[in-house]
Amino acid sequence: MKKITVIGAGNVGATVANVIAHKDLAREIVLVDIKEGVAEGKALDIWQTSSINNFNSRVVGVTNDYLKTKGSGIVVITSGLPRKPGMSRDDLITTNANIVKDVTEKVIKYSPEAIIIVVSNPLDVMTYCAYLAAKKDSRKVFGMAGILDTGRYRAFLANALQVSPKDIHAMLLGSHGDSMVPLPRYTSVGGIPITELLNKDEIDKIVERTRKGGGELVNLMGTSAWYAPGAAAAQMVEAIIDDQQRIFPVCAYLNGEYGIKDVYVGVPVRLGANGIEEIIELNLNKDEKKMLDESAASVKSMMKVLDDLKLFEE
Ligand code: NAI
Ligand code: 2OP
Repeated sequence: MKKITVIGAGNVGATVANVIAHKDLAREIVLVDIKEGVAEGKALDIWQTSSINNFNSRVVGVTNDYLKTKGSGIVVITSGLPRKPGMSRDDLITTNANIVKDVTEKVIKYSPEAIIIVVSNPLDVMTYCAYLAAKKDSRKVFGMAGILDTGRYRAFLANALQVSPKDIHAMLLGSHGDSMVPLPRYTSVGGIPITELLNKDEIDKIVERTRKGGGELVNLMGTSAWYAPGAAAAQMVEAIIDDQQRIFPVCAYLNGEYGIKDVYVGVPVRLGANGIEEIIELNLNKDEKKMLDESAASVKSMMKVLDDLKLFEE
């Protein structure tokens, strides 16, 4: 059993820690925040459910004390501002880049071997930021978005078809933004392609709602979601800790796969003890490939915004 660190004890970070604890995945879960007492309080609260929910994972909270994170096998980075109504994920870039760079450097100092899962937004660019800060193999620095986005897509499909979401398998590519690429051709219900169960118009509406799924919640709550994002990040942690070799859409660094180079973008990967064990290349048709290329291009333009901040110049 490993030590797992979660940076940021806000809505998403605390939820990730809570789900990891419930699944009893770690010897110790360290929750870190910059706000005095917040991580300590939330960690204590989660730990006080241990006898009720039957888990042993020790949950510890600290304020900015990275020594306590020493020797972590996995670090989940959720620190940063969330969206408010009217904001795009990209509006967060400058503030969150400084935060993600700073926490990644601190984390790596004490846990050089850690696998890093980024959650902070704008997700694809913040994952790139953590990669630059960590100076590690890109297969060990990646981002969570696709599990959340397919989770939303599967929930909408389950409602439309009146079936169990457990029976819906789906894949989605591209950035964690409006240019994400849900793939109806790679979506099935109990093995039946959804193209045989819903007409194009019905599928298009669900795809569109999925693309705007994060914004729908921001408009309802005044801040962004946390239950599904927290559960999605915890599912990635579980796949790594238990070396499950699961296939998930993950924000990964492409180095020629899909004909795309030097961009962090969502693609199917096999996730196991070493992090990204394999990037899986689908046989996309022309339209799907075009949408992926456009999505990757939009991430690349945001990566340039990060590069232009010159945070990583010696
Ligand atoms: P939140 O505001 O509830 O929590 C963020 C926490 O980070 C706060 O407690 C804050 O004190 C802390 N923090 C800020 N700077 C820090 C630093 N330097 N060191 C340690 N902690 C620091 O926000 P929430 O809702 O938890 O969202 C966190 C991030 O995750 C946001 O950027 C949000 O947009 C993103 N997000 C990404 C999703 C995805 O699919 N990738 C889904 C949902 C949220
Ligand atoms: C979400 O998709 C805002 O990225 C956040 O809920």
